[in-house]
Amino acid sequence: MANVSVTKTFGILTAGGDCPGLNAAIRGVCRPAYDRYGMRIIGIANGYRGLLENNTFLLKPENFWGILTRGGTILGSSREKPFKSRSKDTDNSLGEYKVGMIKENYRALGLDCLVVLGGNGTNTTGCLLAREGLNVVGLPKTIDNDIVGTDLSFGFSSALDIATEAIDRLHSTAQSHSRVMVIELMGHKAGWLALYAGVAGGGDIILLPELPYDINVIARHLEDRARSGKSFSIVVVAEGALSKEEALMDKKDRKRRRQEEGSPSVAYRVAREIERETGMETRATVLGYTQRGGIPSASDRVLATSLGAAAAELLARGHYGRMVCLDGSRVGSVSLDVPAEKIKTVPPDHYMIDTAVAVGTCMGI
Ligand code: F6P
Repeated sequence: MANVSVTKTFGILTAGGDCPGLNAAIRGVCRPAYDRYGMRIIGIANGYRGLLENNTFLLKPENFWGILTRGGTILGSSREKPFKSRSKDTDNSLGEYKVGMIKENYRALGLDCLVVLGGNGTNTTGCLLAREGLNVVGLPKTIDNDIVGTDLSFGFSSALDIATEAIDRLHSTAQSHSRVMVIELMGHKAGWLALYAGVAGGGDIILLPELPYDINVIARHLEDRARSGKSFSIVVVAEGALSKEEALMDKKDRKRRRQEEGSPSVAYRVAREIERETGMETRATVLGYTQRGGIPSASDRVLATSLGAAAAELLARGHYGRMVCLDGSRVGSVSLDVPAEKIKTVPPDHYMIDTAVAVGTCMGI
């Protein structure tokens, strides 16, 4: 006989950009919820859009068996942000309608709780829905590792492995051609992935959004390396990195300047600046969506499974309005208010920056 659970029926969705480990987390929630507590599980397709459009189905054990190692998400995802429509909408009618529909469908489906797997946006929406009276439990996923309230999000470790391998591979071709190689990694407005992959891959220069770079410092570092007999260099740049001049501009001016320069992304801008300042032959690589694809790393499987199982316990006890988290080596939970409407960036005094500098890496400042 199943153990007694406060939650009898819950809905589960994955929202925002996908990442490795989502299916492991779905399994981590659903297996104990079903096997141990006998809960009824409603799968919601394509994030919050599925709840809005009532695109749902009964999730059966065969749906969440054998998915531990699979990349992507069996539930599909979207970037639907129901509350965001409110600010774009002068009279709020679209946003009010969407939130109203979500609440209506939640009740019509007989849900006791909604489980949301996602990043900042997803957990913020979860928090706002909780304030509207729904029961919500969140799980932190993102390759960016930028969610406040958890030390680590699943997806990050897999992306770190992929990015590190890419940097490793750039080394040999950089050496063959005596080039400077600039590689751009994801991370949105945070530099976690670039910092960790840069250290793991032995990047010579690492550029983060949190530390606006000075092109002169970069150029001098490359020239010093060349003088000391090193014929190539690797520059790891976070997609949100910016120069110290750009940091002084407002968002609109920065966007206009980048459009005028015709640079699609920061790797190309930095590569061009390096060539201009040093005359060194420089190439740019934008790693892109490979960082989010494929099977999860072992660490992500472990983290996603642990966080999933912790979420099932919250459901069983009726502890709602919380996001499960990793706090040091302990799995716990925080109020959904903690991650809502915030971004966890790299603190300038983070030990990993000191580590990078200690082994001779230039941070562009
Ligand atoms: O949030 C994860 C992330 O991979 C970011 O690093 C990146 O900026 C963004 O998603 C791009 O995703 P999409 O094109 O799906 O919006």
